[in-house]
Amino acid sequence: MFIHLFLLILFIPQFQSLKVIQTSYGKLRGITVWSNDKNHRYMFKSVPFAKPPVGNLRFAKPQNPESWSGILDASKYSPACMSNSSSTSTPQKHYSEDCLYINIFTSEKCLNSKCPVIVYFHGGAYNLDSAIMFNDTFILDRYAAEDVVFVIPAVRLGVFGQLYFGPSDLLSENLFLYDAVQALSFVHSEINYFGGDSKRVTAMGHSSGGTIVDALGFSKLIDPGVKLFQQMIVLSATGMFGFYDMVVDNSFAIVEKFGCYNGTKDDRPNANIAEMLDCMRQIDGREMLLMQRHMEEVDDRDFRSVLRGAPFLESNGKIADLKKSPPSRNLLYGTTEHEFRNVDHMNPYISGIFLDFDNPVAVARYYDEQLMANLETMINGDAAAIFICASTFSTAMANTGADVYLFETRQKPYSFHVSDMQYFVGIHREIYHRPDMDILDTFYSKLLVNFTKMGVPSPEWAPLDPERMNYLELKVDSDMKEGPVMLEGFHEKEMELWFGEMMEFDRNVTKIRQSQGLPPEHLDIETQLKYWETTNKPEILTKTTKGFTSIHQDNNSNTVTTTASAQSSLLKNGSSILKQWWFYLIIFLMILLVVLIVICLRKPKREEELPLLS
Ligand SMILES: *[C@@H]1O[C@H](CO)[C@@H](O)[C@H](O)[C@H]1NC(C)=O
Ligand SMILES: *[C@@H]1O[C@H](CO)[C@@H](O)[C@H](O)[C@H]1NC(C)=O
Ligand SMILES: *[C@@H]1O[C@H](CO)[C@@H](O)[C@H](O)[C@H]1NC(C)=O
Ligand SMILES: *[C@@H]1O[C@H](CO)[C@@H](O)[C@H](O)[C@H]1NC(C)=O
Ligand SMILES: *[C@@H]1O[C@H](CO)[C@@H](O)[C@H](O)[C@H]1NC(C)=O
Ligand SMILES: *[C@@H]1O[C@H](CO)[C@@H](O)[C@H](O)[C@H]1NC(C)=O
Repeated sequence: MFIHLFLLILFIPQFQSLKVIQTSYGKLRGITVWSNDKNHRYMFKSVPFAKPPVGNLRFAKPQNPESWSGILDASKYSPACMSNSSSTSTPQKHYSEDCLYINIFTSEKCLNSKCPVIVYFHGGAYNLDSAIMFNDTFILDRYAAEDVVFVIPAVRLGVFGQLYFGPSDLLSENLFLYDAVQALSFVHSEINYFGGDSKRVTAMGHSSGGTIVDALGFSKLIDPGVKLFQQMIVLSATGMFGFYDMVVDNSFAIVEKFGCYNGTKDDRPNANIAEMLDCMRQIDGREMLLMQRHMEEVDDRDFRSVLRGAPFLESNGKIADLKKSPPSRNLLYGTTEHEFRNVDHMNPYISGIFLDFDNPVAVARYYDEQLMANLETMINGDAAAIFICASTFSTAMANTGADVYLFETRQKPYSFHVSDMQYFVGIHREIYHRPDMDILDTFYSKLLVNFTKMGVPSPEWAPLDPERMNYLELKVDSDMKEGPVMLEGFHEKEMELWFGEMMEFDRNVTKIRQSQGLPPEHLDIETQLKYWETTNKPEILTKTTKGFTSIHQDNNSNTVTTTASAQSSLLKNGSSILKQWWFYLIIFLMILLVVLIVICLRKPKREEELPLLS
């Protein structure tokens, strides 16, 4: 009986202890997760990589953190960056403006002999999700235990990272990209204290995080000497770059709502940016967040853009120029088969451009008209952007002589935009989970680990030859006895369409506008809304399903209505009970009760036996 109790105590989880390390800023106390193989794992959470961007530092570029004395607690996650939107199925519960922290997963082996590093930029349209929402166990098992240090930084989201009024020394576009660069610089100077090798850093990103990695990694301004990071992993990068006019328009709109600007639209170029910033820094952060949400729902104004400008490109630079002779880095580039195909995802305006069209609204409308007529064979523009982006960025990098590995996940029954996250960060596991998916799960993250360590995901995987556009089709189908296979001609059909007919249409529109003496399209929200109103807006182009909510259709035509993320939050709720101390107390008391009952039941038995013996 006592052995049982002893075992029970032994197996109470949270069997973790604390681990103290030194950085150049001060000491940190992280968590040890004991392991049978003696290669214990460590987590250092909420490590500050910048001064808190609050008060006068709100809307300022990130600055190096202050040193601290004593030991900083790095055992718990900091709050997420500010986000509150109806268009996510993974809302963050605890958020704060003070969010520029980095989370580091490492191991005993790495602390003793430096390991290569992955710095992972999360997705969420630069507006949602966080650096604290992934699966710790998964990351420790799949990366730290495999001798890779895994790092997840936060960047400011929404208006907090995107407010912009036009060229000025006082406020730069893309503040959140400066956060990303700050995080990479911090990793460069500090990761050796956590067992990482600063000369073997792979920047990785999913969705909008993938676009962050494309922007930084292809930039000739950020890290031309390839010192901050040496390799890239880009997964389902959205490829869309936003419009200056729209971001400036949205920024003035929110400033006006708080009474920090009272001028007319025409006065805007003369607006006093210092005064506006000063005024906006007095506003309560939560109020600003609620206003952002209000604007999103009522005015159709989103802060979800990365602009083609600082710090990675000259202002309003061309995407084609970004792709021209980038610093050479090995690159692993992936997409999923269906991406946004399940999302009737059309805002009344378009979210950005992925090729340098002069008339992006006209082009988007032309494309969507064709799409409506060919829903079976064509994909929506946002999905097309992902495939074109994958094809063009990977080709551009291969042309520098780097090794590029292109792949597409085509796991049945479906592979949508977030379907593959279960294989690389351990969230969004599907309800309709098939055994084949578990098989894929045994090696998907190993491909990333192999690439991070050796620059080669798998010995059988040939690097991209732009002539053939060869890529790995990643899937497991036991019934058909099929596994991953190399194919050629990555999204040839979409490439032909966009670089052929769509480009031609764009040139035609430019010619027509020029002949009528019209200026180029002005891309603020009002112009776009007007544009859609005056055209025959097809049924599907209503803004019913914004963002990433999705209805998954499996192959038996069962409609799986919850989103992948909603499923994962169900799972999270399910497991959170395991983290409550009272849960174990109840189990302990129940076992005690059972033990007592067993003892009580035994006694009469002996008494019955007595007469027989006598
Ligand atoms: C998010 O915004 C909604 C609508 O304004 C509000 O009701 C809700 O309390 C906010 N959520 C959080 C977690 O602040
Ligand atoms: C996290 O990952 C572990 C290990 O891969 C898995 O067993 C667990 O179910 C995952 N947890 C959640 C909430 O998905
Ligand atoms: C704008 O107008 C409001 C209301 O009249 C006023 O309170 C505020 O000070 C003005 N702001 C600026 C920047 O002039
Ligand atoms: C659904 O099943 C059919 C027939 O078995 C197959 O041809 C098709 O590719 C499947 N579709 C998906 C999305 O798995
Ligand atoms: C990872 O690389 C090793 C060494 O080249 C190889 O044996 C292994 O098969 C690779 N893993 C996968 C999943 O391809
Ligand atoms: C572009 O204009 C030419 C000449 O008017 C026309 O033949 C062609 O079909 C147009 N292309 C597209 C894609 O609209």
